[in-house]
Amino acid sequence: MKTNNIRNFSIIAHIDHGKSTLADRLIEYTGTLSSRQMEAQVLDNMDLERERGITIKAQSVRLEYTAKDGETYMLNLIDTPGHVDFTYEVSRSLAACEGALLIVDAAQGIEAQTLANVYLALDNDLEIITVINKIDLPSADPERVKQEVEDVIGLDTSEAVLTSAKSGIGIEEVLESIVKKIPPPKGNVEEPLCALIFDSHFDAYKGVIAYVRVINGIIKPGMKMKMMATNKIVEVTEVGVFRPAMTNVSELAPGHVGFVAGSIKNVKDVRVGDTITDADRPVAEALPGYRKVTPMVYCGLYPVDSSEYDLLRDALEKLKLNDASLVFEPETSSALGFGFRCGFLGLLHMEVIQERLEREYNITLITTAPSVIYRVFKTDGEIFEIENPSKLPTPQEIEHIEEPYVKAMVIVPNDYVGVVMELSQEKRGEFKDMKYLDVTRVMLTYELPLSEIIYDYFDRLKSATRGYASLDYELLGYRESKLVKLDILLNSEPVDALSIIVHRDKATYRGRILVEKLRGIIPRQMFEIPIQAAIGNKVIARETVRAMRKDVLAKCYGGDISRKRKLLEKQKEGKKRMKQVGNVEVPQEAFMAILKID
Ligand code: GTP
Repeated sequence: MKTNNIRNFSIIAHIDHGKSTLADRLIEYTGTLSSRQMEAQVLDNMDLERERGITIKAQSVRLEYTAKDGETYMLNLIDTPGHVDFTYEVSRSLAACEGALLIVDAAQGIEAQTLANVYLALDNDLEIITVINKIDLPSADPERVKQEVEDVIGLDTSEAVLTSAKSGIGIEEVLESIVKKIPPPKGNVEEPLCALIFDSHFDAYKGVIAYVRVINGIIKPGMKMKMMATNKIVEVTEVGVFRPAMTNVSELAPGHVGFVAGSIKNVKDVRVGDTITDADRPVAEALPGYRKVTPMVYCGLYPVDSSEYDLLRDALEKLKLNDASLVFEPETSSALGFGFRCGFLGLLHMEVIQERLEREYNITLITTAPSVIYRVFKTDGEIFEIENPSKLPTPQEIEHIEEPYVKAMVIVPNDYVGVVMELSQEKRGEFKDMKYLDVTRVMLTYELPLSEIIYDYFDRLKSATRGYASLDYELLGYRESKLVKLDILLNSEPVDALSIIVHRDKATYRGRILVEKLRGIIPRQMFEIPIQAAIGNKVIARETVRAMRKDVLAKCYGGDISRKRKLLEKQKEGKKRMKQVGNVEVPQEAFMAILKID
């Protein structure tokens, strides 16, 4: 097919504005799959994604569309992950396109991720087509939303397409718009091969599959390709396209989107954002924008049953095959035994990995509270990073500590500005800016410590604004903070897995609430258990779990056996996630209690 008849595009949207539904409609309309073949939602094909209704890993599909001008076009839809944890992957997917459909919910208008994503698209010089979706909703107000897009983003919306992805309205207009407005790719077949890797996955038979967009040159089986960031050279064994199933083709030319396989064993060799070139005739320079992704959030993962340690390691290794951003290393906790310290891009990424370990690999885990990476400057001049609070040296050894800060953007109806400000202030936020999007909605910008965001900022933001607020954030860098380590002692023994790093001004308050919480969580045992919070040697709070007095079944006197069974079962269920710490049984919730204390 002529390059002139190729269109490469992405769909960008805030979560739930209808990206996957619209993609499905485009696939259906172009007959890429018959509706019988279509699964409920083709592009979100991981179970977890479907359950949570969010896209985690990008998928792509090639569509063929015969437009009203009589020409047949090849449309490559490159799906982007829809969550703030995956910004870098979104930006690389966008770099593989010439245009993007910007979907905005006709009832809700612009949200935080709409803006974050549209800025990424503009950074990549994409042609943007505005699509106002969900016009079937009674509360839809497409005119207001169009105005908002004009005012806030500055896009001309006179040719915006109005759709209902759900009922199939406006789908043909979207396709016509793609063909007319998005420019065809430019590129030269004669030049040395230059292709962008925008995603990858591991296949048990073929090894790592790189998802690529060819910029210049040709890639085909038999040639030697070189990944420029890692200097890895392999022979290309297969190339192909997504229809959406992987279908082999003889070659990929400039402007084409597809996959490349070459018996590569390790996803680390195929990095998102890297450039593939011809090893025998390489380009002088790699494509711009390559960045190595680094985890921002760490937590400890420990098997409840220590005999499952090897199983956990194997499972993590398997997950890592498909996920270059997951890192882990063995860790020993005096409280929890042998486990792993794992690093994730963000909280969602962390939850997804935890759930997959439990669901797909059947391992019951104890997870410790997530932590950011702190930079510690010691008095002897040594500087190092810690991702486990229990590793913090004694206060005497520390000159100062730095923690990561983010710029957070919150969009809310103006009635909630007060509560958002209050919450952000409480979370050590520094107010930066406030802007009206229209008469009813406001965008607030704050600079906050990342650790406060991973505690419970988003949950509290949502509940304080009845779900109306949307949030997006990006890393700013490290700043000095007055931080201390708060230790928790059970039965006078410090429990390393419960240590946290907190701001000095909040340490006493958090310590007090935390021990109170723990008293409610740690079940009564045969003896009394003191719970203490301490900073250094100084105990700042104490509670006591009283010794057990009565049998749990005592109150089920008399007949009802099913009730009795239920109670016993509940107790057994609770047992599953207990860890023996010294002579105290500690349930999973205890390690997460810190996240819910304000
Ligand atoms: P992420 O994958 O998380 O980015 O979400 P998404 O943007 O892909 O949203 P999705 O397509 O999953 O749609 C979210 C919800 O909105 C689903 O319940 C859809 O059925 C619904 N929805 C999508 N399009 C329309 C529409 O045109 N009208 C109405 N009424 N509902 C829609």
